[in-house]
Amino acid sequence: MDYAYSGISNRIFRSEIREILKWTRKPGMISFGGGLPDPSLFPIDEIAEITGKVLKEKGYLALQYGPTQGEHEMLEALIAHMDEFGDRTTKEQICITSSSQQGLDLLALLFIDEGSPIVMESPSYLGGIQAFARAGADMHPIPLHADGMDLDRLEKVLKDLEAQGRKPRFIYVIPDYQNPSGITMTLSHRERLIDLARQYGVVLVEDSPYRELSFTGEVLPSLWTLSGGKGVIMLKTFSKVLFPGMRMGWIVAEEAVIDKVVMLKQSVDLCTPSFTQLILAEYIRRGRMRQSIERAIECYRPKLKAMLAALEKHMPADVTWSVPTGGMFIWLTLPERIDTKEIFMTVIEHNVAYVIGRPFHCDHSGGNTLRLNYSFPSIEKIDAGIERLASAIRDVL
Ligand SMILES: Cc1ncc(COP(=O)(O)O)c(C=O)c1O
Repeated sequence: MDYAYSGISNRIFRSEIREILKWTRKPGMISFGGGLPDPSLFPIDEIAEITGKVLKEKGYLALQYGPTQGEHEMLEALIAHMDEFGDRTTKEQICITSSSQQGLDLLALLFIDEGSPIVMESPSYLGGIQAFARAGADMHPIPLHADGMDLDRLEKVLKDLEAQGRKPRFIYVIPDYQNPSGITMTLSHRERLIDLARQYGVVLVEDSPYRELSFTGEVLPSLWTLSGGKGVIMLKTFSKVLFPGMRMGWIVAEEAVIDKVVMLKQSVDLCTPSFTQLILAEYIRRGRMRQSIERAIECYRPKLKAMLAALEKHMPADVTWSVPTGGMFIWLTLPERIDTKEIFMTVIEHNVAYVIGRPFHCDHSGGNTLRLNYSFPSIEKIDAGIERLASAIRDVL
C-alpha cells in the first residue's frame, strides 16, 4: 500500500538517544542515561490504598469522562501546591495535561506555523526541540552560560528578527536545574529576561519540571510570579518530583490562553483521565506531596555530591562540567576534537552509558558534550561508573 503521509510525518525522526540507550540494557552496564526518578521513592502502598478509596467512594466519577480543563479537586490541589512554592494561580489559569510533553505539544499546535521563529536556550530539552521541529518552527538557539541564557545574544536575535519584520512566537526556557545542563538562571537574569520579552512583545514559555528539587533550600521566584502572570506560560509536571507513570502535568497561563489550550486539548484527547487526577488530588490533599519532594531531595542531594566528587577525582584535566544545585543532571564538555557520539561505543565497552549532547542543540552543534543523570543510579554505582567513564575518555584522548 502506498500510504499518503502528511507533511508533518516527514518532520518526525527516531530519537538517536533512544537508539543508543538500547545498549544500556547490557548486563553489568552502569547507565547515566535516562532522566528517571529513583523508583525507591515511589509511594506504591499509599497510591494503592488511595486508588481503592477513590474507586469505592468516587468510582462513578473516576471511571467517567471528565472536564477537559481538569477535575475540580485536582485544580484546587494544584493551586495549593503551587502556592507552597510561591506561585499564585486561579482555577481559570490552569489546564491539566497528560504530562508536560503534552503541554509542549499543545503549545506547538497553538503557536507554531511552518517557519515561525521561536527562540530557545542551547542546549535545551530534546522533547521540546522534537515537538517544535515537528510543528515546523524556525528555532533560534541562544547559548547557555552558568547564570542562564546569554541575554546580550538574545537581545541581538530579537532585534535582528524585528528588523526582518518577524516576531518570535515564544522564547522557550527551563530556568530551574535545566535539562540537560543542570543550570539555574539567576534572579537578575530572570528579571532582565522578562524586561526583554516585554520590550519585544514576546511570550515566555517557562518549562519547570525540576523547580521543587532544590538541594540548597533556596527556590528562586518563577518567571510566572516575577511577571505577575502576564506574558508567561508555565509548564508543570509530577514526573520528576513524584513519578512519571500517571502522566500528569498542567499548564498555567492567562485565562485567555487557557481557554485556547482547553479547546485544543479537546481535539487531542478530550481529557486527562479523571481516575489518576482524583488519586493525585487526594495525595496532595493529605500533604503527602510536600513529603515526597523532601524525600526526593534527601535522596538526590547526596547522589549529586557523589557524582561531583567522582568527576573531580577521576576526570582528565581538559574535561569540564556544570555544578548544579538541584534537579537530576550534570553536563560535561569534552575537548572540541572529541565527538561524544563517535566515542559512544568505546565508552559502552567500559560498561557505562551517557546521553550524547548534540540532539539537545537545535542547530546540531555541541558534538563534544554529554549529559549525565544522577537521580537513578545508586551512590555506589555513581562512583564506579564515573571512574569507568573517565578511563574511557582518557583512552580516546
Ligand atoms: C524540561 C522538560 N520538559 C518536559 C519534560 C517532559 O516530562 P513529562 O512529559 O514526563 O512531564 C521533561 C522530561 O524529561 C523535561 O526535562
